[in-house]
Amino acid sequence: MTPLLVVNGLCAGYDTTQVLHDVTFTLTSGTITTLLGANGAGKTTTLRALCGLVTTRGSIAFAGQSLNALPTEDIVRLGIAHVPANRGTFLTLTTKENLRLGAHTRRNRREIAEDFERIYTYFPILQQRHDQTAGTLSGGEQQMLALARALLLRPRLLLLDEPSAGLAPIIVNELFNIIRSINTQEKVTILLVEQNITLGLELADHALFLETGRIILDGPTQAIRQHPTVRRAYLENNFP
Ligand SMILES: Nc1ncnc2c1ncn2[C@@H]1O[C@H](COP(=O)(O)OP(=O)(O)OP(=O)(O)O)[C@@H](O)[C@H]1O
Ligand SMILES: [Mg+2]
Repeated sequence: MTPLLVVNGLCAGYDTTQVLHDVTFTLTSGTITTLLGANGAGKTTTLRALCGLVTTRGSIAFAGQSLNALPTEDIVRLGIAHVPANRGTFLTLTTKENLRLGAHTRRNRREIAEDFERIYTYFPILQQRHDQTAGTLSGGEQQMLALARALLLRPRLLLLDEPSAGLAPIIVNELFNIIRSINTQEKVTILLVEQNITLGLELADHALFLETGRIILDGPTQAIRQHPTVRRAYLENNFP
C-alpha cells in the first residue's frame, strides 16, 4: 500500500473566501478514489489545489516530493494530469492537434507515436475523428478526447472532474469501462469527482466525502456506501 499522494492540512480558497479547511487524505498507488460531496462542497477546488491552480496552505506530497509552491507546469511534468469539468480541449483545433498538445512535455517521438497507437485502441472513435475540429465532436467524443489528451502526458495520477456530466448513460458506461482499463492496464492512479454517486462508488476502491470544505468520511467504498450520511444524502431514493 504505497502512498502516491499525501495531502495534509490543506486549506485553499479564492481571494477572501476559504473553501477547503484542513483537508487530509492519502491516495494509494494503483487505486481509484472517488471524491464525493454536494454542489459547492469544494471538490473542484480540491483538484485545482493539487495542480497549483489556487493558493494553498498545508502540504501536498506526490511520490515523496513536495508540490508546495511548484507551478502547474512542473506539477504536470511530475505526472499529474487534470481533466477539468469543462474538458479543457481547444475547440478550434482538430482531434489530432489536441492530442499532440497532450504530448507537448515529451520529447521521445517514437514513444509518443506508440502512445498514439495505444490510445487509439482505447478510443477508436478518435482515430475516425482525427481531422475533425474538437468543437464539432459530440459531448462523449469530447470527453474521450480530453481523457486521451491527459493520457498522452503519461501521468501517474489522473484527476477527473465529473467526466460523466451531460452524457447519455450508454456513453457513460463506455467511458467508465475505459477509465477502469486505464487504471488496471496503465496502472494510473485516479482521483474521480463524480456527480453520479452510484457510478462513482461502483468504480472506485476508496471514497472521500467532502462537506463544506471538510473531509467527513474517508474509507473503502463498501463502508462509505453503507454510511447513513451517504445513504441519506444521495442513495436512499435510487439505491437498493
Ligand atoms: N473562481 C472562484 N472564485 C470565487 N469563489 C469560487 C470560485 N470557484 C469556486 N468558488 C466557490 O468555492 C466553493 C466550492 O466550489 P467548488 O467548485 O470547489 O465546488 P464543487 O464541490 O466542485 O461543486 P459542484 O458539485 O457544483 O461542481 C463554492 O462556494 C464556490 O462558489
Ligand atoms: Mg465542481
